[in-house]
Formats: sequence, C-alpha cells, structure tokens
Amino acid sequence: MNRSFAELIEQKKRGGELSEQEVSWWIDGLVSGSIPDYQTSAMLMAVYFRGMSARETSWLTHCISTSGDVIDLSALKGIKCDKHSSGGVADTVSIPLIAIAASCGAVMPKMSGRGLGHSGGTIDKLESIPGFNVNLTPSAFAEVVNRFGAAIMAQTGDVAVADKKLYALRDVTGTIDSLPLVASSIMGKKLASGADVIVLDVKWGSGAFMTLKSEAIELAKTMVDIGEDNGKTTVAYVTDMNEPLGNAVGNALEIVEAVQVLKGHAPAKLVEVILTLCDEILMQSEIVKNREAARTMAMSAIASGKALQRFAEIVRAQGGDPTFIDQPEILPQAAVRRPVNSPGSGFVTSIDAKAIGLAAMHLGAGRRTKQDAIDLAVGLVLDIKTGDAVSAGHQIATVHTRTEDDAVACEQEILGAIVVGEAPVPRWQTVVAKISRADGVVTYEPS
Ligand code: URA
Ligand code: CA
Repeated sequence: MNRSFAELIEQKKRGGELSEQEVSWWIDGLVSGSIPDYQTSAMLMAVYFRGMSARETSWLTHCISTSGDVIDLSALKGIKCDKHSSGGVADTVSIPLIAIAASCGAVMPKMSGRGLGHSGGTIDKLESIPGFNVNLTPSAFAEVVNRFGAAIMAQTGDVAVADKKLYALRDVTGTIDSLPLVASSIMGKKLASGADVIVLDVKWGSGAFMTLKSEAIELAKTMVDIGEDNGKTTVAYVTDMNEPLGNAVGNALEIVEAVQVLKGHAPAKLVEVILTLCDEILMQSEIVKNREAARTMAMSAIASGKALQRFAEIVRAQGGDPTFIDQPEILPQAAVRRPVNSPGSGFVTSIDAKAIGLAAMHLGAGRRTKQDAIDLAVGLVLDIKTGDAVSAGHQIATVHTRTEDDAVACEQEILGAIVVGEAPVPRWQTVVAKISRADGVVTYEPS
C-alpha cells in the first residue's frame, strides 16, 4: 500500500468506512508489529468516537478470529457449547454454570479471560484455587471435557492474538466501552474457539460497558448476527448490571460464592442468570425440549449435589485441590476483615456496580495496568440488593483487605456507591431480553 497508516487513522477520524483490506492491514500490522501501539491506540479512539458499520465490525471480527490458531474441537463428542459475558461486577456465572450444565450432559469446553477494567475475569478467580491449572495443553483440555463434560482454560496466547493486544491497549486508553470493539473482541475469540453453540450474557447498566439498555440490545444483535453469519448457533440474553449481580467481588471470594450457588444457597439474582443461560444450553444441546424441562433438570442437579460433585471432579482433573469446597478457609485470606454498616435507615435505592467493582480493584483484586499482579484474597461481600430495607447500623457489607487503611478507604468507596432513600424502589428486572436469529428481540416485561 502506498498510503501511510496515519492516513487510515485520519479516514476513520473523519467517519469514513474502512474497507476489508484496510481492516486486515491494521490487524496484520498490529500482530506483526509493523504498526506501532501508539497508532493502534489512536485508531481505537477514532473507532470509539466514529463507530463502525456492520460490515467493518464483521471484518474486524474475522481478522481477530484468524489472527492466531483456530481451535479444532472435532475430536470432542457432542454439541459443543460456549458462553461469554460482556463483563460485569460480582458476575460469578461461568464457573457454576458449566458445572451444572455438564452434570446435565452438556459439553462445555470453556475458554475464559482475565479481568478487564472494573470487571472480573474467570481465569483470575480460578487461580485462587490451590493447584488449579488454567493453562492446559489442547490434548489435556480435550481429555477433561471428554471425561467430565467441561473444562475451563485461559485463552492461550496463540488464539485470537490480535484480541490480546487490542484488549491490553483498550484497557489503558479509555476505549473499552465501544460496541464494535466489544463485539469483535468477544466474537473474534468465540469464532476461534471451535464451539458449535455460543450463548452470550450481555450486560446493561452502570456496571456494564454498555450503560444503556438499547446499546446492550444493539451489541447483542450485532454479536448474534456475526455468530450466525459464521455458522454458529448464537443466542444472547441481556441482563441487569445496574447493581452487582451476586454479593461477592474479588477472586477467592467469588469462588466461595460459586460454591454457594452449587450448594443451593446464593443470591436469587445470580442464580436466575445462571439458570436462564443453563436452560438455553440444555435446549441447544438437544438434551431437553423446552425451558421448563431444562429448569427442572438444572434445579435437581443442584438439589441432589450432582452439580457440586461435577465441579469437584473438574477441579481435581485440572490439578486443583477440591478441599476448599467444604473448607473455604484454605483459599487465600485477607489479613483484615471488617463489617460496613448502613449510615441511615430506609430503602436501598441504588448500588453503583461500577463503583463497587472499582472499590475491589483499588484493593488489588483487579489490575490498574496490564503488568499488575493481583491479590486473590481481597475484595468485598455485599449483604444488600436494591429495594432492600435497611436500618442505621445494620451490616450491609464486609471488606477483605490487606491493611486497616485499605479497609477504611474501601468502606468509604462502598458507602459512596450506595444510596439509601426514604421510599421503596422497584427491584431491577434481572433478565430483560433474549436475542436470537429465529425470534429476533424478545423483551421480558417486568413481572
Ligand atoms: N469481554 C471481552 O472478551 N471483550 C470485551 O471487549 C469486553 C468483555
Ligand atoms: Ca490475517
């Protein structure tokens, strides 16, 4: 090409559409190093402000998915299902979900990521389990999936190589929350990961990258189109992220919450998202004919202990010590643990999920820069949800921190994130829409 990449940045800056060749030029150059990170950063910001057409987003996704190895799962038996969240706070969905779905007969070879910005990542959480290996070889991964129906590994450096670089740059350049960048990041990885069915959990609200419901629905539609156009059955649910989904925020603390889900006592809102996605996986896997049958099967897998047992088997197969399931104290523990009490009486009007995610990140549960080491023990556990009644002095959270100073700072952040008002407010609707090619956008009315 005679033109310089700077001219391409100018073109996007002025709102022009990049051609298929131009998108490949960018992504190939990013991967080979011929386009420096500062030019990619500028291009990302231009995309952030100017957006991308459906064609550009689809080309970008294709370039990301073919920028590294494309996984071949054909050696695995059955219909392979993958699940991905667009990123949230207290979003402890994947770990219990795959244990429940696998115990019901689904096949879930799951490739997961690390935290991004204020949102947590499944791989970081799993690393708090003593011995758990997230870096399985492809053959070890296939063996665990064939024996137990599921395994979870870190997206290897060789899959969707371009996404690794884009993700790291977006995380530090204020360009995470862009629809085409989120869609191509998620679907680029999913297309390379070899599953037949992709179930997406697209978050909307203060703790999501898409803060408006309409944006989340648009993101979901874009990802369903990309998946279906590439031959994958793709179904998305849009779920609430205006308040944290579960109660626990922090890596080891979220593992404890995952176990609680499998033991049948976890926050209703978290369980509702898990079971909704599980219903879809069991239907798409042709294990059941309808949602009612799926729900009955999943709930009995929890009640009977079958799902928990499957989780223990997967942990052991991946080198982990499942003792933590009954002895959570063997997981990393923070030095300081302190309650946070409500300063006033009334009803919880809002809990800013992003501020809660950032409070945990500031303790060391997430990364400020890509090189940061994270502290698996720290975080916080909330005792309230929007709509709950509270009285002054009533415990609303516990902070788990390295130092007393951190505990004080975190308490202030939590109190700043929670609004207590005089009048009761309606609870957020947990699952707001389903998007699929067959049915389009189906919205669920508040009950
Ligand atoms: N999850 C991803 O994998 N990518 C994003 O851009 C956001 C959430
Ligand atoms: Ca290429």
